[in-house]
Order: sequence, then structure tokens, then C-alpha cells
Amino acid sequence: MPFQTRSSRTRQSTVLLVGIMVLILTIVAVMAAVLLANGTKETSMQLLQWKGRGTTKNLQEVILGRCYNYITTVNPELRDKDCQKIWETMQKAFIYKNPCNITTEDYQPLLDLASHTIPCNKSLFWSKTNDLVHRYTKTNHNFLTLEDTLLGYIADGVSWCGNPFSPGINYESCPKWSECESNPSSVYWKMASKMFAEGACGVVQVMLNGSIDAGAFRSNSIFGSVEIFNLDPDKVSTVQIWLMQNIGGPPSESCTGRSITRLKSILEERNLSVSCEDNYRPVQLLQCASDPDHADCTLCPNSVQ
Ligand SMILES: *[C@@H]1O[C@H](CO)[C@@H](O)[C@H](O)[C@H]1NC(C)=O
Ligand SMILES: *[C@@H]1O[C@H](CO)[C@@H](O)[C@H](O)[C@H]1NC(C)=O
Ligand SMILES: *[C@@H]1O[C@H](CO)[C@@H](O)[C@H](O)[C@H]1NC(C)=O
Ligand SMILES: *[C@@H]1O[C@H](CO)[C@@H](O)[C@H](O)[C@H]1NC(C)=O
Repeated sequence: MPFQTRSSRTRQSTVLLVGIMVLILTIVAVMAAVLLANGTKETSMQLLQWKGRGTTKNLQEVILGRCYNYITTVNPELRDKDCQKIWETMQKAFIYKNPCNITTEDYQPLLDLASHTIPCNKSLFWSKTNDLVHRYTKTNHNFLTLEDTLLGYIADGVSWCGNPFSPGINYESCPKWSECESNPSSVYWKMASKMFAEGACGVVQVMLNGSIDAGAFRSNSIFGSVEIFNLDPDKVSTVQIWLMQNIGGPPSESCTGRSITRLKSILEERNLSVSCEDNYRPVQLLQCASDPDHADCTLCPNSVQ
């Protein structure tokens, strides 16, 4: 009897021991699984996801190459600018940062390094005429758009943004303006546009698109929200509007149109004088290069009815 009791006790404790061991193993397995799952979730969440285009591939080479090209061939007067330093300063402004939390302080060092003056009478603003205005400044060196300055030239058409976790740059996606306004490129272009407008003097021009249904002048554009309010009336004598319509397009806004009238009154209120010209001929001739047979493109348009 005592022996039997002992053996049944032994069996009982063996069962208990096995039970405890199974329990411990289960707990360890569950914990490992949870940790592992968390780990993979963490790595996939480290790269924030946005709706916009990711950082341009080879961003460093693109920015450096453009910078050296600019100071060597486009504007050799700036040959003393330090492109390496410009790239490092630009990178420092957004790398490893949340791309919705970029401030003007982040970019100020870059703007200080890369800015340069524009001679009076040469500044050319634009809105919704991207292709035409740059075809024009490429052939007519009397005018410079923001994209013809060093700051505009290095960043034109390029996308970039940071990420709080390694590797610090997001090549997959970047926030759109609609997702957050304080993203790296919106803050950059706003600051560069403001600086471009502040530096303008003499007669300044703006090329607007008369074939936009919503109106040639839109107060939510960079021109309408940033640039016109940073022109200095003590330095700028006149704002000359060139209102360009599509060749052969449907009838649309002219210099007497509603949005242009609104623009004129905003500028006049700021003590800036304004003039407006429909289809400024030197620019229209460029449009005609791709549509030479159109009636608007004959040499003496008034004699051909
Ligand atoms: C945004 O940036 C500011 C200043 O750099 C910082 O104090 C703040 O914590 C940041 N906020 C987020 C959500 O990252
Ligand atoms: C700018 O244009 C105005 C008017 O055409 C002219 O009087 C002035 O001399 C010009 N300034 C420069 C620096 O060319
Ligand atoms: C006006 O805007 C439309 C739409 O963006 C574009 O297709 C057209 O080329 C523009 N016209 C001019 C003169 O720039
Ligand atoms: C415009 O000029 C007038 C008269 O010189 C002055 O009283 C007014 O304050 C100026 N307005 C602005 C916005 O500078």
C-alpha cells in the first residue's frame, strides 16, 4: 500500500511537472510569436506611406549635377557658390524628419547659401503657363523665372521627402499638398517664391493662361497667394501682365476679364501700377512655331480676315 501510494504520488507529480513544462513552453512560444509579429509590423511601419510621388532616385547626384551645371554654364557669375555645401544643407533640412513637419527655419540656411540677386526689369512670374514661359526664357535671356534661378533650377520637377526612421529618406512616397501643407517641397517652393518676389525690382512681368476656365488669375496659386503680396512697391514700378491664350483655342479670358480685373485691383491697392497685354506677340510667335498655319500666326494678322 505505502509503495503504491508513493508510486501514484510520483505519477501525479510527473503529470504535474509535464503540465507545467507544457504551459511554460506554450507561454514562451506565444510570447515569441507576439514579439516576432510586432517586430515585422514595426519595420513595415517605419516607412511612412503617402499619396504623392516618392523621392527622385539619385537625388544627391541630380541636385549636385544641376548645381554644378548652373554655376558653370547657365550663370557663371555664381561660380563661387559651393554646390557640395548646398546639397548638404538641403539634405539637412528634411532628412530623418517627419515630412509633415517642415518649417521655414529648416530651409533658411539653404536659402541663405543659394540665393542671388536678379537684375531689375528681368523677373518673370507665371501661373499655368509652365511649358510656354520656360520655352520663352530659354530663347530670351532678358527674362528669368524662378526656375531660372539657382534655387529653382536645382529643384525643378524633383520630388523629395524624409522619413523619421532609417534610411532617413523616403523613396517610395511623399506627402501631397492635400495631405499636409508643411511638406518639404511645398515649404521650399513657397519660401523660394517669396524670396524671388521680394527681390524683384523695376518692371516685372507675369505670364498668365487666358485659356483656363476657372480664370487666368487664381488667388490660391503661388503667384496669387505668395508672390503678389511680396512684391515691394518701393522697388517695383509696374507689373506687366502677358495674357496668353491657346492658339486656336475657344474664346476665353482677355485683359478685361473678371479674374484679371480682380488681380489689377489687388495690385493697385498695394500701390503697384499694372498693365496688361493680350497675346504678347514675342511669346505668341513661339506658340506659332508649333502651329504655323493657324490664322493667328500669319505675319500680319490684321490684314487677313
Ligand atoms: C514638429 O517640429 C517641431 C520643431 O522642430 C517639434 O517641436 C515638434 O515636436 C514636431 N512635431 C512632430 C509631430 O513631429
Ligand atoms: C527698367 O525699365 C524701365 C522702363 O522701361 C527703364 O526706365 C529702366 O531704366 C530699366 N532699368 C534697368 C536697370 O534696365
Ligand atoms: C493653359 O493651360 C492648359 C491646361 O493646363 C494647357 O494645356 C495650355 O497649354 C495652357 N496654355 C498656355 C498658353 O500656356
Ligand atoms: C499707398 O500709397 C498711399 C499714398 O502714397 C498711402 O497712403 C498708402 O498707405 C499706400 N498703401 C500701401 C498698401 O502701401
